[in-house]
Amino acid sequence: MNKLFITGGAGFIGSAFVRMLLDEAPGYEIINFDALTYAGNLDNLDNLDAKRHRFIRGDIANRAEVLATLDEGTDAIINFAAESHVDRSIASADEFLRTNIIGTQVLLDAARERGVKRFVQISTDEVMGSLPEDDAAFFTESSPYEPNSPYAASKAAAEHLVRAAHHTFGLDTVVTRCGNNYGPRQFPEKFLPLMISNALRDEPIPLYGDGRNVRDWIYVEDHCRAILLALEKGRAGEIYNIGARNQRRNIEVVETVLRLLGKPTSLVRPVKDRPGHDRRYAIDPAMVEAQLGWRPQETWESGLAKTIEWYRQNAEWVRRARSGEYREFYAKQYGMEVGSV
Ligand code: NAD
Ligand code: TYD
Repeated sequence: MNKLFITGGAGFIGSAFVRMLLDEAPGYEIINFDALTYAGNLDNLDNLDAKRHRFIRGDIANRAEVLATLDEGTDAIINFAAESHVDRSIASADEFLRTNIIGTQVLLDAARERGVKRFVQISTDEVMGSLPEDDAAFFTESSPYEPNSPYAASKAAAEHLVRAAHHTFGLDTVVTRCGNNYGPRQFPEKFLPLMISNALRDEPIPLYGDGRNVRDWIYVEDHCRAILLALEKGRAGEIYNIGARNQRRNIEVVETVLRLLGKPTSLVRPVKDRPGHDRRYAIDPAMVEAQLGWRPQETWESGLAKTIEWYRQNAEWVRRARSGEYREFYAKQYGMEVGSV
């Protein structure tokens, strides 16, 4: 049995990865280490095989907690844990620096101390900044670091620390950088689940600026399959950009979702643009395709249909995610109450 120490496994992508491993990869057992911030949700881990999965609440920036949980004989750490929302990083960067930077260094140190064989850092295309709007340019593994938001800067810093641990101490590391994920169990502060949740309740959908910003969307399980390949076959010290060749303007995404839900486009509410809003992300996945043999399995149409269906069926999950602290964030961010309509 391969022993994995997965951080952030109660969040959106981490929990999808844990589920996928338990369903499709019988050779792994998992310690799932997560601080359960507002974005972490134990509902995301319902009905998992307790023989192969153990949840432990803990903070990656707390060295003592990490060392108390990380066993000798751990085959790999996969670091999903992060503060992940750009708008929150603009409001306050403190937690982003603590979790995304200090937390990553604590895990790298702990990996060396416990003789962990491989360290996989889950990163983002946002470390490479923004591409010109109508250009055929793509992000590749050799694109320069040009992070534009405090979130992206903290993730870029984490990548530098991972690189340094490989270069200086010979730690076996792999970095994966993905574009915008979508799928079940994504916290409704992110654009796609926000628009689905609001549309289902006939609430306005805030669209930043002119709505022409481009994101490169990927279904969460396709991202998770690429991470598994990077874990099993990735070259030490390598970075892999992961994308499904699926660029869309935000306005197109909202209109598609509204059409699929049978809701009017009058729900779209243009609001003030995000400061420093990156114009376009687009990933060239040639390297992950060639080296690891990865291909996405979902199309935009099939992935969106699954995602919308999940949010339709899980109104109670959304209601719980949108209660509590999120209500304050929403009121400050958009100047309107959640569920105010
Ligand atoms: P998420 O916000 O849904 O989940 C983050 C998880 O990390 C939560 O369960 C939270 O409780 C946990 N966490 C936060 N701080 C912690 C700490 N100090 N110690 C332990 N656990 C902590 O995020 P996500 O969308 O699932 O993203 C997962 C990873 O993937 C992140 O590293 C993010 O930067 C990266 N990523 C996300 C996307 C995307 O589209 N969502 C795209 C590319 C990369
Ligand atoms: P988001 O889901 O926050 O991901 P990221 O900023 O990391 O790409 O946003 C996706 C796109 O949607 C981005 O261009 C910002 C835009 N957006 C809105 O137009 N309205 C919103 O309320 C949010 C949250 C995002």
